[in-house]
Amino acid sequence: MRTHTALNNGDVEILKSYQEFASDVLSGLSGDVKFLPCKYIYDERGSRLFRKIMELPEYYLTRSEIEIFQMHGEAIAGLIGIENCSIVELGAGDGKKTRILLKQLQDMALPFHYFPVDISESAVNRLTSELIEQFPALKINGIISDYFEGLRRHSHLNRNRKVVLFLGSSLGNFDPAGLDNFLSRLWNELNDGDLVLIGFDLKKDVDLINTAYNDSSGITEQFNLNILRRINDELGGNFDPGKFRYYGTWDAFCSAVKSCVLSTCRQTVHIEDLGRSFEFEAWEPIHTESSYKFSEEDIETFALKNGFDVIRNFYDKKRYFVDALWQVRK
Ligand SMILES: C[S@@+](CC[C@H](N)C(=O)[O-])C[C@H]1O[C@@H](n2cnc3c(N)ncnc32)[C@H](O)[C@@H]1O
Repeated sequence: MRTHTALNNGDVEILKSYQEFASDVLSGLSGDVKFLPCKYIYDERGSRLFRKIMELPEYYLTRSEIEIFQMHGEAIAGLIGIENCSIVELGAGDGKKTRILLKQLQDMALPFHYFPVDISESAVNRLTSELIEQFPALKINGIISDYFEGLRRHSHLNRNRKVVLFLGSSLGNFDPAGLDNFLSRLWNELNDGDLVLIGFDLKKDVDLINTAYNDSSGITEQFNLNILRRINDELGGNFDPGKFRYYGTWDAFCSAVKSCVLSTCRQTVHIEDLGRSFEFEAWEPIHTESSYKFSEEDIETFALKNGFDVIRNFYDKKRYFVDALWQVRK
């Protein structure tokens, strides 16, 4: 591991902070409506649970996006494969879909450098070592950080033409104001002609969506409860996860699945490192995640409003999901 020095191929850099986690938990649990940012679900256990979610029969999102990369990987690689480009993937996770693209790009014999950015230390370490084995000639440096810190760090390391991947419908975790803010920050960090490939989950039968977030084996519940376990492990909390349950359902008025953990009784939870106790009413929620779904019109509007030209949309066979390729216009 290295910090802010020149990196050798395969090195992983850590830029995340314990203080930020503690202060976000403090502010999230202190308000009238309690919330915890979903990025904190992803420690080692959270990343493992998310890999299980991706395998669930109910979770159509990953299968749909894999199908897109299988069907259109060559076309995508043909459009993004520029000599000596940097591929920066925000929230890379286990890189399941990206591997298909990396293979296509390697087959084109154009040199490129891959920078997976993810807040989950275990996800970046695992992905980096697996890819070095799978693609011995790949130039790769993992960055363990928040999205924009990682993108900025990449720019210091390397001034090449950028292709930013943001897959898995992660943009859908932002509320509408957060989404616009994310896209305008992304535009600011990029140069004219840079490309972005973003995965969007499309609006569809709400029963299908609800089922995807309420699997019969209870993995999604464990995934959401993991944020409480993580606070126990890292901040000395005494949450009893058995006294909370997951609840996630479609909100038709804002086109999103709103996920939370509900306190099943009146209780007090103490968090040692914050030196604070927090009161919970029976059935009081802690918001853990939003998963917005989009129309094709929404997606085009996001691009144009935020300074991107739409190059092409890639769909799966059922048109459940779209990966949109945009180009920065300055
Ligand atoms: C929904 S998963 C998607 C993973 C992968 N992109 C895919 O499509 O399979 C979200 C990933 O983004 C990471 N993540 C979430 N919030 C983040 C943030 N603010 N900064 C960096 N990584 C983040 C998580 O650790 C996780 O690996």
